[in-house]
Amino acid sequence: MPDETSNQETGRAQCPHSLGDVDLFAPGAPEYWYEAYDILHAESPVHRLPGEGFAPGTDGFILCKHEDIAAVVRDQDRFPLPGAMMVEQLKQRGGDPFEIEGANMMMAAMTTLRPNPEMWRTHRQELTDPWVGPGATRNQAMVTAVANELVDRWIERGSVEFVGEFAQPLPQMVMANILGWPLQDLKLLKYFGDGTVKPFVYGSGHRSILPEEEVRSQIEVLNEFREYTDNLIKEKRRTPADDMITFLTEVEYSPIERKLTDNEINGIVYAMVIGGLETTQYALAEQVQLFIERAGVWDEVRNDRSKLRAFTEEAMRLRAPTQGLSTRITSQDEVFHGVEVPAGSFLHLRWAAANIDPDEWDEAQALRLDRKAGTRHLTFSQGARVCPGATLSRVEQMAAWTVLLDKVAAFRYAEGNTFKHQPGIMLAVEELHLEFDKA
Ligand code: HEM
Repeated sequence: MPDETSNQETGRAQCPHSLGDVDLFAPGAPEYWYEAYDILHAESPVHRLPGEGFAPGTDGFILCKHEDIAAVVRDQDRFPLPGAMMVEQLKQRGGDPFEIEGANMMMAAMTTLRPNPEMWRTHRQELTDPWVGPGATRNQAMVTAVANELVDRWIERGSVEFVGEFAQPLPQMVMANILGWPLQDLKLLKYFGDGTVKPFVYGSGHRSILPEEEVRSQIEVLNEFREYTDNLIKEKRRTPADDMITFLTEVEYSPIERKLTDNEINGIVYAMVIGGLETTQYALAEQVQLFIERAGVWDEVRNDRSKLRAFTEEAMRLRAPTQGLSTRITSQDEVFHGVEVPAGSFLHLRWAAANIDPDEWDEAQALRLDRKAGTRHLTFSQGARVCPGATLSRVEQMAAWTVLLDKVAAFRYAEGNTFKHQPGIMLAVEELHLEFDKA
């Protein structure tokens, strides 16, 4: 853990001791998020961010209660997505949203493929579920092969940098295989992935806003991403294969009774890349730390593999990769736990805090392999807009740990770990140097 005095000298966030110290978005704040959640739960579970609202003159609010967030994500009329409003504005402006300078392809594709909440479900069922939703179980053997390939690169060494040599490449290789992205261009996939998530890492405040010069450099990367993907889609149309991009070139999408355009497919690939790489990386990196730190859990799961699923769910509950998102607004005046939240406010949904809400969970901070209904955590959100890649991520986690539990007898920390996290809104440890005994 980082020490507090050095932080005082550099002006970075310090470990909060009272509500006045809490700032979830300050530089260095990720080191102390969980200390901050305890304070927010005790004193301010609906926490005002003055002047940070969606409409001018309104405020933002951090929601920490499980009950509040679960209610918000289940009601799309009262709590629309700001993205959905931008889609509506794009539509009203007319013209071709794909031609806007620096178009976010995912957002642009939303204008035609799911302009309203009814079409969200169909979009998911027909376009992404077969590959990364419930249909993701088809990827099990491939994911296991990827995990084995990665582990075999370092298993004889007795030490590993777990993030760079396992947690990060695994979802990259899996996503490449699913999409039909050439494995020799894996570095490009990472480069484009880093470009898509840039605001979540280098953005500031609860809205993850990038400085102007960073926006420009992001647009350049996204343009390259778009061009590369465009060529790949054309290639798949010429030479179909058994992969998601080929599928998207062939499928007829029922609400619009036609096949998808190249631009629309490009938007879906963008969504897979922004959602499907780093999130699972962070889940795996947190899980190995919990295995090392929570005494007895590794052996218990190793000896009884039927407990592995409970472990991965508890780990995602205790250490949510996506800690929070400012992803809903209020369309009317609301009251949460006695706090008035006017229409036009921005809601920052703090999934990670809700996951340890003492009113929702017994022994909220304990990792319990016998927890009832453990999957009600909010790590993937809930409701109609629940993460469409949740099944794939679960398949990846289960396959990864099945391979690791087979091949490794025990992990421990090597010397020299700082446990430093990347900036932004994700719980992302930068490196993890581990030693292990081979099974
Ligand atoms: C542990 C891993 C993951 C976590 C923690 C995670 C978390 C989330 C969360 C919290 C949301 C927001 C839902 C909302 O606003 O209500 C989301 C949306 C999304 N996720 Fe995931 N996710 C993960 C893995 C994946 C994977 C593997 C994929 C793709 C294969 C993916 C694709 C997406 C997409 C495309 C969206 C946006 C939904 C939309 O706007 O249509 N995610 N995810």
